Amino acid sequence: MKLSNNYKILVTGGAGMIGSNLVKKLVNDGFETFVADNLWRGKKEYLFSDKEKMVIPDKNFYQVDLRDYENCLKVTKDVNIVVHLADIVAGINYVFANESSVFRSNILINSNILRACITNKVEKYIYAGTACSYPKSKQTTLNPPPFREEDVYPAEPESAYGWSKLMGEYEAELAFNSNLINIEILRLHNVYGTPAELDPSKSQVIPALCKKAIEQKNKELVVWGSGMQKRAFVHVDDIVDGFVKAIHKTSKFNGVIQLGPDYSTSIAEIAKEIVSLSKKKIEIKFDKSKPEGDFDRMANNSKAKKDLNWEPLINLDEGLKKVFNWCEKKLS
Ligand SMILES: NC(=O)c1ccc[n+]([C@@H]2O[C@H](COP(=O)([O-])OP(=O)(O)OC[C@H]3O[C@@H](n4cnc5c(N)ncnc54)[C@H](O)[C@@H]3O)[C@@H](O)[C@H]2O)c1
Repeated sequence: MKLSNNYKILVTGGAGMIGSNLVKKLVNDGFETFVADNLWRGKKEYLFSDKEKMVIPDKNFYQVDLRDYENCLKVTKDVNIVVHLADIVAGINYVFANESSVFRSNILINSNILRACITNKVEKYIYAGTACSYPKSKQTTLNPPPFREEDVYPAEPESAYGWSKLMGEYEAELAFNSNLINIEILRLHNVYGTPAELDPSKSQVIPALCKKAIEQKNKELVVWGSGMQKRAFVHVDDIVDGFVKAIHKTSKFNGVIQLGPDYSTSIAEIAKEIVSLSKKKIEIKFDKSKPEGDFDRMANNSKAKKDLNWEPLINLDEGLKKVFNWCEKKLS
């Protein structure tokens, strides 16, 4: 069943990578769409159409800090659905160097927005979890069995980021189990795509490597860690498709649904493909003194197929090419 276009949808973090793509899709589908984002990493320009105009009216854009409960109350008033994407998200260097503040920010944002949705009687709250919440002890070898959703417990995420995001899932489930609000939780594996953050202090691995290859000065591309660590990369267009399906889903919440492919790709393979896209003679070097995170993980996506009719469709080579071309244009 399709929802009526009279539905008002708020996307928190709507100026970010996933959020801006989702907002454009929702506007295109005819929904009145609102964004709440403090622009910590997102940018207003990500919401521009080809005509360099925001795809939503100015009055629908709230530049607010969602760590503040009063702001959360204001932005969730009179909306039917909230897709909650705002959180501190960054590359491994930022996350490990700022564990305490990342944890506190995300806990405050997630708890405040959920409570405001309950107070303002929002019909459905859709939360974005992360595969970084899976236990580190289950990610120490290459090619482990693909994760099932329930493998997240007993909890032991590697980072404060993973813990904070898991607490967001937990609190949303508590609210649902107490009949306070209807929810969906999508737990995302490693999402890549455009627009991408290129500031090295906050960027994630794929855009960071594209930037290094495009700007390389001494014919070397330095990759953090051994390069053997693997991730289940999923393109942002596939993730937007998952959120749209969660918005339209009419059946009751039946537990977390993870979104990701059932195979993983090593960072060394990604770096090799990026060097080949650059058409330059660059030597790839691995800096093992730098953190590399969990070793390997991928998704058993049978629940996503069954409950959401979702599976990833964008091929990694095709997706990488799009990101590389976008970065090249941005940096020229
Ligand atoms: N990108 C990934 O690989 C990935 C993987 C798993 C889960 N997720 C989750 O998906 C969601 C979106 O991620 P993304 O990749 O689009 O990241 P992003 O950084 O592009 O988007 C997050 C947005 O939240 C905003 N934000 C941060 N702090 C805020 C605050 N205090 N108040 C208001 N807004 C604030 C940022 O400015 C940014 O625009 C996040 O919840 C993230 O944890 C992302």
